[in-house]
Amino acid sequence: QGTAATWPEEVRRLARERDAVILAHNYQDPAIQDVADHVGDSLELSRIAAITDASTIVFCGVHFMAETAKLLSPDKTVLIPTDQAGCSLADTIDADQLRSWKAEHPGAAVVAYVNTSAAVKAEADVCCTSSNAVAVVESIPPDQPILFLPDQFLGNHVRRQTGRDNIHVWMGECHVHAGISAADLRAQVEADPAAEVLVHPECGCASSAIWLAGVGDLPADRTRILSTSGMLGAARDMTAKTALIATEIGMLHQLRKVNQHTTFRPVNPKASCRFMKMITPELVLRCLREGHDEVQVPLDVAERARQSVERMVAIGR
Ligand code: 13P
Ligand code: SF4
Repeated sequence: QGTAATWPEEVRRLARERDAVILAHNYQDPAIQDVADHVGDSLELSRIAAITDASTIVFCGVHFMAETAKLLSPDKTVLIPTDQAGCSLADTIDADQLRSWKAEHPGAAVVAYVNTSAAVKAEADVCCTSSNAVAVVESIPPDQPILFLPDQFLGNHVRRQTGRDNIHVWMGECHVHAGISAADLRAQVEADPAAEVLVHPECGCASSAIWLAGVGDLPADRTRILSTSGMLGAARDMTAKTALIATEIGMLHQLRKVNQHTTFRPVNPKASCRFMKMITPELVLRCLREGHDEVQVPLDVAERARQSVERMVAIGR
């Protein structure tokens, strides 16, 4: 009489049976990160989706990420445990709104953050993620105006980093990151001035982090604005006793795994993305057993959206 399989054993068995690779974003629940084949930021997961040998991709993340995987691997089956896992930032702009904005700025290059629907990507010239947004913008001739969408905080970060004043920024925001306030960050830095500070560029406090880095006891090299995997890279060889983390709290799991010496503390412990957390262990099982939900992108949209994503992948970090 055998013992019943545990949840991770069952997931791994079903993944083998389906010839599926399981990808999980850094904001997923720890159990889901631990069962996945690969955990990473949007760009890393897109790259893996583009080159995987598996015939099925199970994307544990939000819908635009699974859609991006489908764009890059159109012949593969792409599954997401629930297609209800949306993104409040991606919802701040649709294709009609982008077409109207483009009509107001003829000749401008359109840079769309990957946190957008495939229909919006189809209207863009090139995509970017938080880890390559500066490199993507720098690949555009300096005198060509840019429409950057949809995240205002990432857009402002790119403006500061590139020194360009011809970037028009869409006023979207992510409700989770906008909720990590400058006041929270300032209070925590004042309470622990020796701490390192890692801030995601989608945060409302990203500009305040720059300000803090220029004053008081917080040297500029101890405050960094990074994508989720950029944070992991920084954490690996960190020697500080504490680090303050300004992003979604799922990130803490990987940070604590790569560095057990530093204490990682969230700037806002309530910064949890309810869309990311819709991916539950039960739904991962349902997905592998029943093949739900399958991600499809209409062919005409997919063709144009793929070009924007492929241009980004070619530019790199
Ligand atoms: P990363 O590209 O840094 O993983 O961010 C994705 C995201 O949705 C941030 O909220
Ligand atoms: Fe979207 Fe914000 Fe959730 Fe990231 S954290 S998936 S930007 S709602």
